[in-house]
Amino acid sequence: MTSSPPVMGPDGSPAEALRLDSVVKTYGSGSNRVSALRGVNLALAKGSFTAIMGPSGSGKSTLLHSAAGLDKPTSGTVQLGGTEISSLRASQLTAFRRDHVGFVFQAYNLLPALNVEENITLPLRLAGRRLEPQWLDFLLESVGLTDRRHRRPSELSGGQQQRVAIARALITRPYVVFGDEPTGALDSRSGKQVLDLLAHTAKELNQTVVVVTHDPVVASHADRVIFLADGAFAGHLDRGTPAQITDRMTSLGEW
Ligand SMILES: Nc1ncnc2c1ncn2[C@@H]1O[C@H](COP(=O)(O)OP(=O)(O)O)[C@@H](O)[C@H]1O
Ligand SMILES: [Mg+2]
Repeated sequence: MTSSPPVMGPDGSPAEALRLDSVVKTYGSGSNRVSALRGVNLALAKGSFTAIMGPSGSGKSTLLHSAAGLDKPTSGTVQLGGTEISSLRASQLTAFRRDHVGFVFQAYNLLPALNVEENITLPLRLAGRRLEPQWLDFLLESVGLTDRRHRRPSELSGGQQQRVAIARALITRPYVVFGDEPTGALDSRSGKQVLDLLAHTAKELNQTVVVVTHDPVVASHADRVIFLADGAFAGHLDRGTPAQITDRMTSLGEW
């Protein structure tokens, strides 16, 4: 994964949804200095589904936060949908994230006073964008919550709440949807449903998705698994089986 000029699609727009060049992230200074990312290069094609794996503390969350514009790299550049976000001012970055980035966290972060439909459409309201009712209906149907659209989060299971969060991440048709261990708080069955949904929706919508996961079965759904160790790339596996993925993780010292 070496650095090279952006690849352009037939219409002149970048064929890549996400591109990181030489991204370095350092926390603290002096003896408290931690190198969370040590020069990461990454290019993800539009519509691709990527899993990020690596031992705890290897920089997975830092990578996701840098790529999504939640955190500023110490050096290097990040391009999302062809825009170099690393050079945006804070206010521009906030607006860009709101309009073009979807993020699904381990905690669902739904607003308890809003119902399912209102939670899903909140990003549009915040951006002052018009709601397309058919798109909302499609997403509700995709995440299996059509009959619960008027329920409050407290009336839903954890898996259902995370499916609301996924629909909310998709409603703006973002360049990339990021998930940082989105199934980490769920039992394995609901977790699998949520990840299947994300993988399936990504394919159906040609939506670019990047998830951090510890689950080799989940990762085996991805087009590519990228391994991180100590803030740097430690290889990748395309269309790996759960057993192959487990072997790679074992060799990285995770299990
Ligand atoms: N806000 C922070 N301040 C200082 N160090 C941090 C901060 N966030 C992460 N780190 C450190 O950066 C490294 C990578 O962390 P992280 O990206 O959270 O790893 P992972 O998600 O793979 O567990 C770790 O050593 C972690 O302690
Ligand atoms: Mg993490």
